[in-house]
Amino acid sequence: MSKVSDTKLKTKQIVKKHRGDKSALIAVLQDIQEAFNYLPKDALTVTGKALGIPISRVYEVATFYNAFSLKPRGEHIVKICMGTACHVRGASAIQDKMERTLCIKPGETTADKKFSLETVNCVGACALGPVVVIDTEYHGQVTMAKVDKIIGKLKEGAQQS
Ligand code: FES
Repeated sequence: MSKVSDTKLKTKQIVKKHRGDKSALIAVLQDIQEAFNYLPKDALTVTGKALGIPISRVYEVATFYNAFSLKPRGEHIVKICMGTACHVRGASAIQDKMERTLCIKPGETTADKKFSLETVNCVGACALGPVVVIDTEYHGQVTMAKVDKIIGKLKEGAQQS
């Protein structure tokens, strides 16, 4: 099956799960992002048609929330907290280190599609700063050595899969 038709098929299944309910647009987009790790263009088109919502409105919602991405993202999403508490505890140095380790800047994805890097505001764990959230896992009091360790582990895991 081609990638495009696979995307369309999966999106139709997601819309069906939400019974084609127009008011479920955000929930549908969340499920699409969970399935593909971003919101593919074809998926947005299918969603608009299936829910009877203009594509412009679908894009409006998809671009309004930071949690949604219109660009393909890596298997692991690395978020560096740049909130005040983390900033005073060296978040900038952690960002530099992460950029050098992954060879990408925030907003970018590694060539092997394993990692995407983002900076975010306070993630609500200030006492643990500097904080890095990878996928859903929080890492507190992150140091240069810890960056190597965490990313090294994920890379190893990636090679095994
Ligand atoms: S500032 Fe980083 S968790 Fe609050």
